[in-house]
Formats: sequence, structure tokens, C-alpha cells
Amino acid sequence: MVKIRKTLIAANWKMHKTVGEAANFVKDFLPQVVGVAEVDMVICPPFTCLPYLSAGLKDSCVQLGAQNVFWARQGAYTGEISTAMLQDLGCSYIIVGHSERRHIIGENDLIINRKLKAISEAGMVPILCVGETLPEREQNQAREVVRLQLEQGLKGVAAPELVVAYEPVWAIGTGINANPADAQEMTGFIREYLAILYDKTWAEGIRILYGGSVKPENIAQFVAQPDVDGALVGGASLDAHDFARIVRLNSNA
Ligand code: 13P
Repeated sequence: MVKIRKTLIAANWKMHKTVGEAANFVKDFLPQVVGVAEVDMVICPPFTCLPYLSAGLKDSCVQLGAQNVFWARQGAYTGEISTAMLQDLGCSYIIVGHSERRHIIGENDLIINRKLKAISEAGMVPILCVGETLPEREQNQAREVVRLQLEQGLKGVAAPELVVAYEPVWAIGTGINANPADAQEMTGFIREYLAILYDKTWAEGIRILYGGSVKPENIAQFVAQPDVDGALVGGASLDAHDFARIVRLNSNA
């Protein structure tokens, strides 16, 4: 199967790694992905590692992303970080709406929408995370939950450069990945709904990732699905060898 969309594999390090640990990762990881050209690679470290990685990844084919952002460009917002600050460090991508921020921090669709607008206006690429909880899946509400997250998150956002990550909450950090056929069913639905929200041609070009217990052993099954264009990887991205294996499984290099 030839896909028109380039595969994207993104690492979400969450709240892991000091600068020293990030430096060791880069030293181990980069030699293992030399020559990988048919996969876009992104690392989203904690904010504190961004300056180091900005320099450390400069001449590599690995791009830099952030895990969060605030919607204002600057001002009296103690503890927050703006798109301008992230751009200054060479970030191209920003994760928004991750389930840990929705469920642990309490971010709602209104906040997520503000962030999406800010990211889009800054010309950066949001990785919008959507996904249902286990009770929602069991009650056959998965599609409606994800549809609402897309509708409300993207409200008033001009057809943006966008990546969507379908991350079922019950699959995150549990070791229990979604069945690849279920991931296809949901990513296919997301693409259909984006076509309704925006337009079909645009939706065909949008990359939709799967996230939730992705490992070297299962990545190939996910990217083999027609509407899964890559992965957002948590735990397995912390180990340079495992993350390189995940990237290389979808590469001829
Ligand atoms: P795990 O790969 O650890 O399940 O985490 C997935 C995730 O939340 C990526 O954003």
C-alpha cells in the first residue's frame, strides 16, 4: 500500500528526563536513525530540555516539539510558555489536548480551542490529541466523544496545518494497545469528520496518528492501517534503542 501522507513518529517524553539524560538519549539515538528519510521524526521533551535539544538536534533530521503552550503571546501569566518562546527554540510542533492534561490538569475544550488558535496563528503545527475513556468505549460513545473533541477544539480555527493523534485513554501507559482494526475504524472516522468540518481534499492530506502503548513489536500493525499515518509514543520513546526501532520499522533505511 502506498500512502500519500508521510509517516510521522513523535515522541512524547511527558515529565521524564533531565538535561543530562536527554543528552545521553541524543548521543545514542541519532546514530541509529542516520539515513531515515521516509519518516518524519519529532521529539517533544519537557520544556527544560528544549534549549539543549534545540542545539543537539540542529543538524539532524529530527524535529522538535513541545508538550504544551499558553494561548497568549506574552504577558502576566505566571508559569506559562508562549508560542513565540517555543518558536525561538526551533519548535515546529506542539501537543495539545493530551488526555493527561484533560483528565489530570482539567483542561477543557475551550482551553484547547484557545491553544489551537494560538498555535495556528503562530504558524506552528498542533498535534491535537483526542480519545475516549474505557467506560465511554464500553457504552459505544467513542465516536461521539471524539467527534465533540474535534468539533469544539477546532471551532473557529481556519483550516490549519494539523496533526491529530487518536489516543484512547485506556491504552495510554497501560501496555494494552488498541486493536489495530479499532484504531483504523476511529482514525478513518476522524478523517471523515475532518472532511465534513473543512473539506475532503484537505482532510486527505492530514496526518492522523495512533497513540497508546505503541512499541517496536506493534508499530508495523498500526502504520499498515490506511488511515494511521504514524504514532505518538510515550513510554517506549524514552529508550533510544526502542524509539529507533519504532522509527526504523517503518523505514527502508
Ligand atoms: P504510552 O506510549 O506510554 O502508552 O503513552 C502514549 C501517549 O500518551 C503519547 O502521548
